Amino acid sequence: MGLSNKELPKLGFLYLDYVLRFFDHSNFKGWPNKIETVTYHWGKDKDRFIKEVKRKKIDVLIGNIPATAYETFREIARELPNVRFIPDVDTQFSNKSKENVTRFAWKYELPIPKTYIYYNHENAYKFLKKTKYPKIVKKSYGPSNYGGYFVHKVDNYKEAEELFEEKKYHPMYMQDFVPMEADIRVMLIGHKPVCAFWRRPPKGEWLTNTSQGGSMDYMDVPKSVLDLAVKVSKAANAEYWACDVAYGMDKKPRILECATAFAAFPYIRDWIAQYIMWSLSEGRFKKPHTPMFNWEELSKMDSSILRTMRHITFGKYSQSFDGEYFGKKRKLFGDNQVYLHVLDKEYPMLDIIPRTKEEWPSEKWNYQDNLALKKKTKSPAKPEEIPSPTGEDMEIVETAPKISKKDLKKILKSVDGIGNKKVEKIFDKFGKKNDVVGVLEQNVDMFTKIKGISKKTVSKLKKAWELFKTK
Ligand SMILES: Nc1ncnc2c1ncn2[C@@H]1O[C@H](COP(=O)(O)OP(=O)(O)O)[C@@H](O)[C@H]1O
Ligand SMILES: [Mg+2]
Repeated sequence: MGLSNKELPKLGFLYLDYVLRFFDHSNFKGWPNKIETVTYHWGKDKDRFIKEVKRKKIDVLIGNIPATAYETFREIARELPNVRFIPDVDTQFSNKSKENVTRFAWKYELPIPKTYIYYNHENAYKFLKKTKYPKIVKKSYGPSNYGGYFVHKVDNYKEAEELFEEKKYHPMYMQDFVPMEADIRVMLIGHKPVCAFWRRPPKGEWLTNTSQGGSMDYMDVPKSVLDLAVKVSKAANAEYWACDVAYGMDKKPRILECATAFAAFPYIRDWIAQYIMWSLSEGRFKKPHTPMFNWEELSKMDSSILRTMRHITFGKYSQSFDGEYFGKKRKLFGDNQVYLHVLDKEYPMLDIIPRTKEEWPSEKWNYQDNLALKKKTKSPAKPEEIPSPTGEDMEIVETAPKISKKDLKKILKSVDGIGNKKVEKIFDKFGKKNDVVGVLEQNVDMFTKIKGISKKTVSKLKKAWELFKTK
């Protein structure tokens, strides 16, 4: 059963300089053939990248495309018609900007806070004069647009005008303010929820930003939220997916964000890889069994354990086997008490059928460049903005160990070949403490981009970081 080694497609990881890596070889444990790696170096690297994919005879390119490389990768995908991208570039449409999330939701009639997008500023100001407040203003797109840093609440016209004058956001992207109980993040594989948690705002605040004192918990995520997340994942035809759902005071769920790039514990990335291996091997590899509400059980463990556990497997329910935990456990879900294993049938992990044509061609949907403020002249394409290392996936800090800047510096300096000067260079290059942590967590090799840091030093640094994590 399933494909032989020779029949399996040739896989390649899609990596980008300065961007954290969602997958590596360890996630694809058991894949019998070599998995290639192709790294995009930014700038005018498109043609070289395409050649490398062809030379390596890659059939399937696996990885997330960050916002500022999105349009380039649409072009690359066109020139590689026989290469399957996982996730598909059309699935990754929402990764690019908040505007794209909105257009995706509009098309599939998914509930979102009422949203207004203006490229014509004059019309935007007319709208702002007559609309109701409060409004939420967001920056739609940017190299590191995360965590509420570019999300603002305005209470009247004057505040809105001042904000736009100062920030110069384009397009002008606004939403009705939705009073909400919390945000809920749902992660899915093959449209099956595999993890979900609440993010609650600090008392008296509206922004659910856990790095600013909000809290997280995994218990009793409502059925309506999981159902919406499944619907969204299906609309995107996503192998793996994360949705941020606003759970309103009115108990209605609305989509805030959705993407294929998100922070996930390694065991979740293992499951995704296993799922992809299953899907590409015609059943030779086993689909992971991820029982519904496994997250409620796993979250009873300390996050330091969840960060290190790999390749988690669960037993499956069978009637003759009473020892099975998820078989006996019941839960109030929606309006009913249900056995958890029954929910596994209600929320199956489904295969993805690759698309055969483009859903979001840039000629039509890249409003951002098509309606840029200053129309581009014949000058060469505008350079891509390179994200800071942790870029979109800055939330990685939510799954990374907590550390003070002082202790982080200590760890760096404990490595032969790194002194005060290099530490300074490291922070100059990567940015803040959390950026450095992100690089240590997911892309240590990036340290070789710093002058005077060798591969050998990097491998020592890797060890020092692992040692710290096990303490
Ligand atoms: N329309 C809205 N009404 C009320 N609160 C909102 C609205 N949009 C966003 N928020 C709050 O702001 C947070 C950040 O917004 P989000 O769109 O997720 O941007 P970011 O990319 O910065 O995370 C959300 O988690 C939510 O708490
Ligand atoms: Mg968010």
